[in-house]
Amino acid sequence: LAQDNTFKIGLILPMTGQQATTGRQIEAAARLYMAQNGDTVAGKKIQLIVKDDTSLPDATRRLAQELVVNDKVNVLAGFGITPSALATAPIATQSKTPMVVMAAATSSITQASPYVVRTSFTLPQVSVALADWAPKNGIKKVVTLVSDYGPGIDAEKYFKERLIFNGGQVTEALRVPLRGPDFAPFLQKVRDAKPDALFVFVPSGAGAAVMKQFAERGLDKAGIKLIGTGDVTDDDQLNDMGDVAVGVVTSHHYSAAHPSALNKKFVEAFSKANKGLRPNFMAVGGYDGMRVIYEALKISKGQGGGDALLAGMKGQIFESPRGKMFIDAQTRDVVQDIYLRKVEKKDGQLYNVEFDVIKDVKDPGKAK
Ligand code: DHB
Repeated sequence: LAQDNTFKIGLILPMTGQQATTGRQIEAAARLYMAQNGDTVAGKKIQLIVKDDTSLPDATRRLAQELVVNDKVNVLAGFGITPSALATAPIATQSKTPMVVMAAATSSITQASPYVVRTSFTLPQVSVALADWAPKNGIKKVVTLVSDYGPGIDAEKYFKERLIFNGGQVTEALRVPLRGPDFAPFLQKVRDAKPDALFVFVPSGAGAAVMKQFAERGLDKAGIKLIGTGDVTDDDQLNDMGDVAVGVVTSHHYSAAHPSALNKKFVEAFSKANKGLRPNFMAVGGYDGMRVIYEALKISKGQGGGDALLAGMKGQIFESPRGKMFIDAQTRDVVQDIYLRKVEKKDGQLYNVEFDVIKDVKDPGKAK
């Protein structure tokens, strides 16, 4: 077998189906990173192999297996939703292939394999900041509404624990199905319960439907505030959500409006390369994931071996378009600044405008 000089990255994403915006954002960001940084690293020619798992975990696992066995990829990457990441983790372990999780955000994913490295975020990491903000801003009684799977359950649990600690209460905890959810009956319940606020976690791509139903059911007129993790005011959809979104407060690790020079360059270049598309938090997870892979290849002096690459991924610190970012060598999870943001209209466009920051936040899910 001829030793060739390629370094293969198998990027598994939902390119079609309910989570397709995640795939579109991450693929575009990975290609932008390669266009900006070249496709030769430490003497190796980088080859990106993109596969569509349609966000079905059985497909993710099958594709990962084929990429490892047939294509002999050096790295697995992508993973749009938690079940896809969890289904693939045993393959990463068995084949000693680093698995860079660019999207999925349930706390426990990094514990499913010692070969997982995460460049997205975790739901506990972003939810706690909002539970600190809310009671100081007149929000004491909250109903939570989350997608009924890993990240939603993390968000519900960590938001609630911290809110209670701060003297608030969660009067009802509602869970909606991940696949094809109908938010209307749940929102009617919330309207009847009349809490100070509704806390929402839904995955990227579902926020616009929540916002529309929230307005149609008259929850805003009834004086109920909408708060949530930044997934609900996703930059991919935010601009089309209309005035109901204005004033919504969320906590998250990335906003396209983050006012750094590096982010301005990133947003401009991404938008230019993708017909005006605004990058969201998925894009930044993909962009930074490519950075982590490129640098690991350099640190390991072009060695494509899984253990050498993994060692090069651990402990990386760098400036991301989101702000400072750190891959904790112990947990292989991302440590980053978390921002409180409010949706504002500027020059006719809606943005998540950051108004406060909590520095260097580790995933609280790892402390237990
Ligand atoms: C997950 C998916 C999302 O689209 C998101 O915004 C957060 C978490 C997940 O499945 O882990």
